Amino acid sequence: MIQTRQSPARSQVAIIGAGPAGLTLAHILHHHGIDSVVIERRDRAYVERRLRAGVLEQGTVDLFRALGVSARLDREGLVHHGINLQFSGERHRIALSDLTGGRAITIYGQHEVVKDLIAARLANDGPIWFDADDVSLHDLTSDKPRVHFRRDGRAHELHCDFVAGCDGSHGVSRSAVPTAERRTFERTYPFSWLGILAAVPPSLGEVIYAHHERGFALHSMRGPQVTRLYVQCGPDDGLDSWPDERVWLELKTRLSTTDGWTVQEGAVIEKSITALRSFVMEPMQYGQLFLAGDAAHVVPPTGAKGMNLAVADARVLGDALAQWYRAGDRSLLAEYSSTCLRRVWRAEHFSWFMTSMLHRFPDGDAFQQKLQLSQLRYVCTSTAAATSLAENYVGLEHV
Ligand code: FAD
Ligand code: PHB
Repeated sequence: MIQTRQSPARSQVAIIGAGPAGLTLAHILHHHGIDSVVIERRDRAYVERRLRAGVLEQGTVDLFRALGVSARLDREGLVHHGINLQFSGERHRIALSDLTGGRAITIYGQHEVVKDLIAARLANDGPIWFDADDVSLHDLTSDKPRVHFRRDGRAHELHCDFVAGCDGSHGVSRSAVPTAERRTFERTYPFSWLGILAAVPPSLGEVIYAHHERGFALHSMRGPQVTRLYVQCGPDDGLDSWPDERVWLELKTRLSTTDGWTVQEGAVIEKSITALRSFVMEPMQYGQLFLAGDAAHVVPPTGAKGMNLAVADARVLGDALAQWYRAGDRSLLAEYSSTCLRRVWRAEHFSWFMTSMLHRFPDGDAFQQKLQLSQLRYVCTSTAAATSLAENYVGLEHV
């Protein structure tokens, strides 16, 4: 067995991936006195810079508070009590908190969450091994699984009781489950999102989801001086076809309202394109391997659910492992997949619903557009429909 001085050859739980799922799980396990090693393919700077989600559900924030990792989130996170839906040039506010007994969302970048979780993990002397190449999982159906990887040019082997596959949608954990043992459910959408980060104060204090005949647009933010914006673009578009002037023109066209309001321009700090996809793998466990987050399921970002689902899986898995180590009781572990999948499928439906209601479909005819506008008007005028959207958006406590 080969190891570096700081690399113990054994840990109770091997966690593959230092994203929101893996890092949250590491903290929950630490809280229960269970040791784990996080094995990450990228370097620390890379994972701390990767811009992605921005909306934290109430339950996600509550969990970070309970784990004692919310100091900066509590200081810098923007608590929002509503979101806005825009169509036909008019804005309609969905009063999230009024409709859900006071629950709210917090705007705080995923990379800030990751930074906070990494800093707290290292402060607890919890190991994270960055720059790990060629990770592979072995003996998953035995009670002595092993993880192999390369680091600093050397081969390493980690023995463990359990493996948590938290390595996102392009990781190795999902494919460690034999095809005969899994079923996948998938939908790709005929469009992508072009996202920018702009050095300009948000043009409105809340998130705006806009339906427009030219396509969907979204106004969000990362702080008092930084705006996050997205426009629907073609599925094969590259960044070359989206110079800044074109991005601003589309944002202004799609987000302006008939009363003269429009978005303020600023320097573009970052620009990237994300494909939209729905994907679920069932079950989320195989032997001693448990998948969490994007490794097991992907949602289009329109419902702002992906990171929240990753954190929710980590919580279910952390509690199940704690019950096993505390009482030798495997019942929560046995139910892990079915417990998670209830929430996952609710989020899959909500994300598909938001995506279908708000985007322009290339093959969409006038009939489909009329249906979208009717649904938007219904959501904005019926308390029952608005409540349904609001409770899904802030996150359901019991699914
Ligand atoms: P990841 O964040 O993908 O983390 C996986 C980690 O595993 C990574 O660090 C990766 O480097 C590592 N890894 C991969 N392969 C290996 C390997 N072979 N070995 C070791 N390590 C490996 N979600 C929300 O909740 N709200 C939002 O507002 C929202 N907006 C979004 C906007 C955009 C534009 C995008 C792209 C996504 C958005 N999401 C949102 C989704 C959210 O970002 C993901 O669902 C979330 O990152 C999932 O976390 P995770 O920990 O499961 O996976
Ligand atoms: C974001 O702020 O990045 C964001 C907000 C809402 C979404 C997706 C992303 O639905």
